[in-house]
Formats: sequence, structure tokens, C-alpha cells
Amino acid sequence: MKRSLLSIEDLARADIERILDRAESFAEVSGRAIKKVPALRGRTVLNLFYEASTRTSSSFELAAKRLSADTVSVRAQGSAVDKGESLKDTVQTLSAYDPALVVIRSPWAGAAELVARWTPAGVVNAGDGKREHPTQALLDLYTLWRRVGRLDGLKVWIVGDVLHSRVARSNILAFARMGCEVTVAGPPTLIPREIESLGCRVRSSLDELGEADVIYALRMQRERMEEAFVPSLREYAERYQIDARRLQPHQILMHPGPVNRGVELSAQVIDSPQALISQQVESGVVVRMAVLYELLASGEEEEGVAASATTAAAARARAADGAVAERLPDGSEHPIEVAPGEHLAAPAGRHP
Ligand code: NCD
Repeated sequence: MKRSLLSIEDLARADIERILDRAESFAEVSGRAIKKVPALRGRTVLNLFYEASTRTSSSFELAAKRLSADTVSVRAQGSAVDKGESLKDTVQTLSAYDPALVVIRSPWAGAAELVARWTPAGVVNAGDGKREHPTQALLDLYTLWRRVGRLDGLKVWIVGDVLHSRVARSNILAFARMGCEVTVAGPPTLIPREIESLGCRVRSSLDELGEADVIYALRMQRERMEEAFVPSLREYAERYQIDARRLQPHQILMHPGPVNRGVELSAQVIDSPQALISQQVESGVVVRMAVLYELLASGEEEEGVAASATTAAAARARAADGAVAERLPDGSEHPIEVAPGEHLAAPAGRHP
């Protein structure tokens, strides 16, 4: 069965928890000299990037390779897209390689959904215009969970250019789903109307920022601004920059990258121990491994081939069967699954 991840809305809290648990089991693999498991051997993952990307594209590629998939990476620049080929033609042409999964980053909102209609492969949305970036939200949850242990009740402030940010949309949904209290803050011109309907409150100043446990700063997306949304970047920085004056010792700082140093964040806070920015990048690989595994390998298992749970119900049924090990190239075994039942009822305090 074909499975896709197009929006955080596709995921229930239990799905998110399962992905985070899975990512944690892959973190152990990433600590080894040979960072590979055979889970997706013989499967092809197509990475289609129609927009600039450093972290997302490299981590998807690495994630697929660490699961032993074959990868084909196409960037719009230098491909036939440059010659005017449409997204649909490109997807249909590349479908000739029979990919199991297409990872798509595009400047057009809704592109991932369209691709899902045009290909028999599963699709992962790696950022579609201003709309969503679900794997970024998952890696942010994972990074925060690793740091604080429990997400329920955390006060998260998402600060900055919310209007142009797909990360903001996915993260509001994801943090809210995990029981966080989400506030978005920024200049009124950069806060979309009715954003509250996603499950957050809105503030136009940082006066109450002191209540936040987590400050999630967004990049000023100048490439998406056709008009002036703020009088000047200097003025923006004065009112909304997270600097040493605003970031308090008890607060955690996150940012999806790339950072405009001196605009949304001061240089000092970027390098502070409270900042999780480099951990977020590091989490990208294991969380994307978990997503690829969830979408591809767990489907196989339903057919009785491989090793993981697809739905909470399948997981429950499987819990009775115990942990499953995968054979590594060096002959050792990697327990892909955590101990029976652990996905479903993690020890108190450990789970997000
Ligand atoms: C984000 C993106 O591209 O949406 N970056 C990322 O994926 N790491 C955020 C941004 O560009 O500001």
C-alpha cells in the first residue's frame, strides 16, 4: 500500500510518538562506525528539489543511504526543468525508475499533493511553498524531546516571519498535537489572518516572552517578500530579535536554519548553550530515517516481510511478538524495534 507524509495533519499523536521512538533507535546506528542498516535495500528514493536547500536535501539523502536505499537526487537547476519541463512531466519521467518514494521540495504550495496524484510512489513533502514542512516539525519535536524529556504543557513561542513560513505552520500543528501551549509572535504584517485556527495564540510584541520555555525563532524570508513587510530590518531587529537581553537562562532557543545572523537572532545567542540549532540539524538524519522507514519498511512488514509497525493497531498486535533484529553488513544484528509494548506505553517521563 502506498503511504505518504504530506502534512502534520496526517499524523495522530501516537504516530508522532512512534516516529520519535524509531528515530531514537536510529540514533544508536548513527553512533556506530558503520552507520547502515539494510531496511530499504533494493528500494529507490527519488529526491526532487525545486528550491534551494542544504540541510533538508542532504539529510534526506543520507537518511535513505543509511537505510541502504538507492537514491536519485534531482535539482531543478541543471535538470530538464531548466528547459521548461513541467513538474508533472518530470515526475512521470522519473517514475520510470519505479521509485518507492518521492521526496519533493517545491516553491509551490500544494505541490506534494499533486505529485502524490501523479506517481504510484509514496510522497514526502520536504517543504511546499509557504504551506508545510512536516519533517522539519518532527525533527524539532525530537530535538526538544531529547533535551527536556516531556513536551506536554511546555510553552513554545514561535517568533518572527510566520506569514512566509511553512515551518511555522507545521510546527504549530505539531507542538499543539504534543500538548504544548503555542504562541506566535511578530509584526502584525507578518502574522497570517486566522492563524489561531491552527491551535495557537497571537502576540504582536515580545513583552510576555519571559513565560516561554522554548523560543523558536523563524528566518526573515526575504526571498518570499515582494513588498516591504517591515519598515527596515534594523527596526525589526530592535523589536523582535532574540538577543542576550531577551533570552533568559531558563529558556531553550531553536531555529530551523539558515539563520540571518544579526536579524532574527544575535550572534551571541546562536552560540549559547541554550541554542539547539546544531542539534536540530543532527536530528534531521535520524528523524528522516524514521519517516522513510515508517512509510516504506513498515508496509512490507504488513505483508509479513520486515520489521516494524504501521498503525497503532498493528503495533499492538506486534508487541506480543517481541523485538525484531535486522542483520547488518558486518554480520551483527540491529534491534530495529524497541522492546515489546515500549512504543505504546513508554515509561513515565521518558515519552514526549
Ligand atoms: C526552512 C525551509 O526551507 O522551509 N529551512 C529548512 O528546511 N531547514 C526554513 C527557512 O528556510 O527559513
